[in-house]
Amino acid sequence: MTAMTEEIQKLSKRFLKMYPVKDIDLKLMMNNLSKLDYDDSMEYQEKLLRSTIHHPIVQKYPPTILYRQRFLKRLITEIEDINLEVIDSLYKAYTNLLSQENRNTENSGSISYCYKTYCLAPELTITLKETQNIISEGTTGMFTWQSDGFSIPYKDTRVSVKRLDWTSDHVQSSCDIVLAADVVYDTEIIFPLVLILKEALGKSDGATAYVASTIRNQDTFNCFRNALVSNNVKVKSESHHAYQESPSQQKSFIIIMKLML
Ligand SMILES: C[S@@+](CC[C@H](N)C(=O)[O-])C[C@H]1O[C@@H](n2cnc3c(N)ncnc32)[C@H](O)[C@@H]1O
Repeated sequence: MTAMTEEIQKLSKRFLKMYPVKDIDLKLMMNNLSKLDYDDSMEYQEKLLRSTIHHPIVQKYPPTILYRQRFLKRLITEIEDINLEVIDSLYKAYTNLLSQENRNTENSGSISYCYKTYCLAPELTITLKETQNIISEGTTGMFTWQSDGFSIPYKDTRVSVKRLDWTSDHVQSSCDIVLAADVVYDTEIIFPLVLILKEALGKSDGATAYVASTIRNQDTFNCFRNALVSNNVKVKSESHHAYQESPSQQKSFIIIMKLML
């Protein structure tokens, strides 16, 4: 893969997961672009568009209109700043998005959803439907929290999804691995959380839970740790991570615990 194609892929991944536009570093890409002759520059810009705004995933699962507008505005400005001709289709895509915004504001009042796509490996992408609000539908759902910032090996792993309310449901089938991200945030639900973890771990020998928690309040986390001890759930190991998605976002402190019975 050439360095230029690599740069486009990097940008595409960032765009799909709605990485903050202002934190995207385009220096290297603009430097490469400025060295191309006219035809190659046009082709490169088309490729940029196909890998972001016109990406096949985006046709079905788009980031917010505002995000796409900001992204295109930045891209167009950067290309103009190096005195290159910007392809018509970039301008056209931008004006299309501006008119979509006008239509949407007429229809305000309803919740607007967007999609974030995470490219975990060349053949593995995960798209999540989200709102831009931290609180929605009475809970913290519909938003990717920081402890998702980590991915785990997936090959040869069978994954199934079931709805499970910790306060009223029971774990029906056995599972080898339990993954939980950003679920330790409210002392009121820590007790049912620990009980359901214990129930899941008791379903098969060697079952292991990995719980990633962003430490926002040390007392809340201590409450979780104490509840594990009092319910005989063992903390086999614990790793500590500093995480920052992009320069303009806040640094988080994340603890990943490996739990077993
Ligand atoms: C901070 S969010 C984290 C969501 C997701 N894991 C992530 O990292 O983006 C906390 C999650 O705990 C879930 N939750 C809270 N109480 C629950 C309960 N009683 N049963 C099941 N899930 C619950 C919420 O619905 C929410 O999805």
